[in-house]
Amino acid sequence: MSWMNHDKLEKNSILLLGFIIVTVLIGGIVEIVPLFRMETVIEPVEGVRPYTPLELAGSNIYIREGCYNCHSQQVRPLRDEVVRYGHYSLAAESMYDHPFQWGSKRTGPDLARVGGKYSDDWHVAHMKEPRDLVPESIMPSYEFMLHRGADLGSLKQHMKALKTVGVPYTDEMIEWAEKDAAVQATGEARTDTGGLVERYGENVNARDFDGQPHMISEMDALIAYLQVLGTMVDFEAASAVEGGAQ
Ligand code: HEC
Repeated sequence: MSWMNHDKLEKNSILLLGFIIVTVLIGGIVEIVPLFRMETVIEPVEGVRPYTPLELAGSNIYIREGCYNCHSQQVRPLRDEVVRYGHYSLAAESMYDHPFQWGSKRTGPDLARVGGKYSDDWHVAHMKEPRDLVPESIMPSYEFMLHRGADLGSLKQHMKALKTVGVPYTDEMIEWAEKDAAVQATGEARTDTGGLVERYGENVNARDFDGQPHMISEMDALIAYLQVLGTMVDFEAASAVEGGAQ
């Protein structure tokens, strides 16, 4: 009978070790494998959508310039942070960020909720020369971004790559990437938002971000990205629903 064989296990430490390893491995697989599937780990939250092509171009510039070396994008659920920056960050808010920009260093303030905090003009002036607005700032000047065209040509490839790691870009979104970026960054947005809004929703910010209507600069892309940070989830509506249910 099997319980008698247990004797052998208890008297042979190597055999026991073997069985312990097998048991722990099975336990590990059961716990870890489901985590590989993003949708089982992160609770979906209404409003969170993949970045528009222009915002994605901005996020690429953010990564290229190493903004994360001085800025985090994660409001922790601690009172001082919530009072300063707003609602603490939800996992779902960065579920389409590859790589995520939580960061670990705050030489400058957290940027997870900077969207809508300042006007586009403020951002242009600040990126051009931070000390014009904040005299003691040690942030570098990024004026060159006003004079460099945003790289829209590689967006399709980038979106395809993101799709393979689970970002729900449709074939249509990928197909229209360059056009959508142009529509979002220029005056065209006012007359022809149809496609962009259909694909990315009503709340997309579409305007000339950098005040230079003749070109789509890196500044346009970066500010489009900064202005969407932390604005996808409507926390006021969410807390009204919670309040109503109580
Ligand atoms: C050397 C560190 C450093 C780097 C690199 C840096 N910043 Fe900053 N940033 C700061 C500091 C310090 C402040 C606070 C003073 C100020 O507003 O200029 C700041 C402020 C800001 C603010 C205003 C935030 C607020 O809530 O007031 C924004 C937006 C910003 N940075 C964006 C960026 C972006 C985008 C990049 C990359 C292109 C970047 N920063 C790179 C240090 C840095």
